[in-house]
Amino acid sequence: MFTSLIQASTLLPAVPAATATASGIETFVSLAYIIAALLFIRALAGLSKHETAQKGNNAGIIGMTIALIATIALALSSNPDRGVAVTALLIAAAMLIGAMIGIWKARNVEMTGMPQLIALLHSFVGLAAVLVGYNSYLAPDAQAEMLGGFHLGEVYLGVFIGAVTFTGSIIAYLKLSAKIKGAPLTLPGRNWINLTALVVTLIIMVVFIRQGGVTPLGTVMLIAMTLIALAFGLHLVAAIGGGDMPVVVSMLNSYSGWAAAAAGFMLNNDLLIMTGALVGSSGAFLSYIMSKAMNRSFISVILGGFGSDGAVTSGEEEHGTHQEIQASEVAELLKDAKRVMITPGYGMAVAQAQYPVADLTRKLREAGVEVEFGIHPVAGRLPGHMNVLLAEAKVPYDIVKELDEVNDDFGDVDVVLVIGANDTVNPAAEQPGSPIAGMPVLKVWNARDVIVFKRSMATGYAGVQNPLFFKENTKMLFGDAKASVENIIATL
Ligand code: TAP
Repeated sequence: MFTSLIQASTLLPAVPAATATASGIETFVSLAYIIAALLFIRALAGLSKHETAQKGNNAGIIGMTIALIATIALALSSNPDRGVAVTALLIAAAMLIGAMIGIWKARNVEMTGMPQLIALLHSFVGLAAVLVGYNSYLAPDAQAEMLGGFHLGEVYLGVFIGAVTFTGSIIAYLKLSAKIKGAPLTLPGRNWINLTALVVTLIIMVVFIRQGGVTPLGTVMLIAMTLIALAFGLHLVAAIGGGDMPVVVSMLNSYSGWAAAAAGFMLNNDLLIMTGALVGSSGAFLSYIMSKAMNRSFISVILGGFGSDGAVTSGEEEHGTHQEIQASEVAELLKDAKRVMITPGYGMAVAQAQYPVADLTRKLREAGVEVEFGIHPVAGRLPGHMNVLLAEAKVPYDIVKELDEVNDDFGDVDVVLVIGANDTVNPAAEQPGSPIAGMPVLKVWNARDVIVFKRSMATGYAGVQNPLFFKENTKMLFGDAKASVENIIATL
């Protein structure tokens, strides 16, 4: 959507609003932009709670539709020289190609593929900001006049944020889809490399702005900064370990917002500035919440080097022996339980086990068992991933609790069902020196019985072995989580 709005906005003339007298179309556009901005704020407010998330999403869709119609109407009315038909054709062709790719991708993407798809979409916003920046600098009407320091500053910052977002998001995409594996890239003196890159970028900015307009030296400076920013984004995200990826996902979300806001400045589009700022600031706040959830300092995560890389499923570092259990035995345990806690993780998403889990919950509650869900803030691969799945399967919201709400209660729980979770229930987080040390985890091991649903002894996303699996009160129920839960329901 961002890229559509940027694309439609690029067809606006360079400096329209300040010089033109307010015509009917401009009044309509201003009004539409205000309504769209209010709907975006309504969308963000709605998305903050699962009860209101769907309404929030609808508000966002309506807002973006209004924004696109208004921007296209403005572009059509502002380009009489080019001809309305040509402008309309250009917009329609670009939107058609984009919509076809978007619909195809949306239909095909698995729920588990969403995080990497989102990272890829962030990279498009970054690339769009870079292209808008170059266009704004090199377009013939820009070359004809002295651009002025402020506009050159906008171009420079827009291209910088866009380029960092572009490569950073591509690396995030490769990491989230496990196309890049292995330890994080921790070059010697990496913090100095980053700092030097920033200082050089600032020096180049001064030279660039002092050119006052389009000059050969200015163009060379812009290209040099773009190359540094591309390398900077790549290095920044490559240095971050798997366990810290949640913060990176939300951080790049924030960057993509700022990149869009920068594009809004360059295109003189107030709504793009507002929308970008809303996404940028809400993404920054989400990054702060994620850092807190991981018990990390935000700055430390950005500087990279924590955690080991994800998606390493070696399982070779087993310690001690584990005990296995069968679905029928779990059913017996559940029949006798008074209080059950379910802690889902990424494996529930992979198995699409949320529907049988919801069925099991209903059956147990009908039999008088108290059932609650304990949700870790970074369970799964997206902020709120588990909440979305459980809401989809119609699990009542009031029994879905946050980590802080349940973590002291495990001592009173008879049976914990750990469904496809690993890092988020890993007691190694309490051991200094562990790659996930300090990360708050669900203390499931304090319950009377712990049943872990997974397919093997493989490690979780952070690649850290889980001592929970070898505890005396833990039993492993091997197999696909969906099939395992269905087998339990069949026995119940
Ligand atoms: P993970 O640590 O990723 O572990 C998931 C477990 O599910 C795996 O051990 C896997 O074991 C099991 N599994 C996979 N498919 C399964 C299936 N079909 N049936 C049964 N089990 C299956 O999960 P988590 O506890 O949710 O932790 C999330 C991790 O992702 C954290 O490290 C977090 O930092 C990271 N992360 C989170 C986010 C966000 S924003 N939430 C973003 C990026 C990264 P088997 O292979 O043996 O079955």
